[in-house]
Amino acid sequence: MTLFSPDKFGDVLVKNRVFMAPLTRMRANNDGVPGSLAAQYYAQRASAGLIISEATQISELGKGYPGTPGIYSSEQVSEWKKVTAAVHESGGVIFLQLWHVGRISHTSHHPKDGLPVAPSAIKPTGQVYTASWALTDYETPREISLEEIKELKLSYIHAAKLAKEAGFDGVELHAANGYLLDQFLQDGSNLRDDKYGGSIENRCKLILEILEDIIPVWGSGRVGIRLSPYGTFNDMKDSDPVKLFSYLIEALNPLNLCYLHLIEPRATSAGGDDQIVEDAPKTGQLFTKLFDGKVVLAGGFDKISAEQAIDSSEGDAVAFGRIFISNPDLPKRLESNSLLTAYDRSTFYGGTEKGYTDYPFM
Ligand SMILES: Cc1cc2nc3c(=O)[nH]c(=O)nc-3n(C[C@H](O)[C@H](O)[C@H](O)COP(=O)(O)O)c2cc1C
Repeated sequence: MTLFSPDKFGDVLVKNRVFMAPLTRMRANNDGVPGSLAAQYYAQRASAGLIISEATQISELGKGYPGTPGIYSSEQVSEWKKVTAAVHESGGVIFLQLWHVGRISHTSHHPKDGLPVAPSAIKPTGQVYTASWALTDYETPREISLEEIKELKLSYIHAAKLAKEAGFDGVELHAANGYLLDQFLQDGSNLRDDKYGGSIENRCKLILEILEDIIPVWGSGRVGIRLSPYGTFNDMKDSDPVKLFSYLIEALNPLNLCYLHLIEPRATSAGGDDQIVEDAPKTGQLFTKLFDGKVVLAGGFDKISAEQAIDSSEGDAVAFGRIFISNPDLPKRLESNSLLTAYDRSTFYGGTEKGYTDYPFM
């Protein structure tokens, strides 16, 4: 078994273990319809064992950046169909990453819903892009009510169904990087005193309920989940991450998911300066052994460290982010030890084909 050998993840055959990490590129239209170059961009990267799409909001209130795509309207589904068809024609497999940003947002992204929602009314430190790309301080979010959590769960089911209609091969639940579901998990952002707050069991409940809701839509073998234990991006903290994430990962086992996707904290940065967490534990080493199914690792990997991770059974696949942006044929380049094209951070977010569809093939 090597980085380049095929495998079966749940119900999905993957041709290698070089996966494309979910990468927000902020090139969608204002109404959350993917941009016209998205099909070409993803099809160029179809040699990945699995493509995980950029984070895609499940509702308008789930949006927190300009130019991110959604999966809640028929117009969005029509454009996503072109993306999935292009990837399939090129022999690729693509999952959609289901996203709700929670407090990492601004009223301008969803004016009719008002303030961003979060488990608790705690303002994150840092700044946010408004709908018109202006940087401003975060607002203090509104605590989401139990009634709204019921609606939220319906939005996840709706989005999961639309992802199927759009022709994706599965879905990844985004519960990482300080967005809504991670905000529920960690006690730095969840101070609720109802059934979704307090104990570790309560803080994990929403994620488990959502998984149980979307598994009937897809089958468990086509549903993955992404977690970022120890990640500090988006002002995240927890008083006991090992206990929290150990509980959650063990609670995922009976669900028989397609995979668990773990981000190493040494690179949880979503495009800013790399946030190196000094002395951070390796999440693969800590948590992989607790999970019965396939594990995908991400965060600062190169060919050597990816091969080590596979050889030591720390992970079954490695998702590459930044170097997949600049190397559309990354699996082939890694396998042949070819030079990699350096990525240009200034074109990560927004813009047109520059830094998106114009990186060269070998
Ligand atoms: C431009 C950019 C956009 C990203 N967007 C997402 C995203 O939409 N969803 C997500 O879970 N992670 C996102 N991430 C994190 C990556 O998936 C990945 O975990 C991170 O880049 C570390 O992997 P790397 O060192 O191979 O780049 C993003 C990272 C970058 C650089």
